[in-house]
Amino acid sequence: MIIKYPQNLLDEVHRRTVGRQLAGFTPGQGPLHPDLMLVGEAPGRHEEQVNIPFSGASGQELMKFLASIGYSRANTYITSVVRQRPYSIKRVRDKKTGQIVEKFPNRTPTKREVRAFAPLFDWELATVQPRIIVPLGNTALQRLLGPTANIGKLHGQRLTQPIQQATADRKGYQWSTAKYTLVPMYHPAAVLYARRLMPTVQADWQALGKIIKEIK
Ligand code: URA
Repeated sequence: MIIKYPQNLLDEVHRRTVGRQLAGFTPGQGPLHPDLMLVGEAPGRHEEQVNIPFSGASGQELMKFLASIGYSRANTYITSVVRQRPYSIKRVRDKKTGQIVEKFPNRTPTKREVRAFAPLFDWELATVQPRIIVPLGNTALQRLLGPTANIGKLHGQRLTQPIQQATADRKGYQWSTAKYTLVPMYHPAAVLYARRLMPTVQADWQALGKIIKEIK
């Protein structure tokens, strides 16, 4: 299922991101009330083109981890804290022609961009109501648990605690009154860059598989 976001929240995001280097719009996808809601950082170029979250190289890695605990895209909700592709503008010399050409590579979203999308993400979480939130990497983790949370310390752990939500004036975050179950994981791109992380990430996913059984 492709989620239909409320128009007033989409308009608000648009107002707050005008003029920023953000492309496309890739909605979150998956069933409501799933066991798992996987939360990434932002769509990349592949996601922007096909409009399916985590469908590029990181996504393929992620699907293998998901399959290792008996889950798939069909029964998992997949989204990220920013719904547009953040890009930078680089001028580089084309090796063949010698001409200067512009490139638009992916970049990490800024804190301000993550804040601009925060009410949309809060709405998405409240609508999807997963049993377990799985932040993938520091951008998603810090959006939910604040700037001191660190994936290197928290990966693979089961946390039950309040999360950050956008304040009514939209200037920052406040802690939720409700508690949520979270199991932070390394972002799948981390294993693409550092293969040595693979055994740790595989063990974290197995731990997540056990946690799901415990809480069901
Ligand atoms: N990285 C993310 O965080 N989300 C995607 O959808 C793709 C790559």
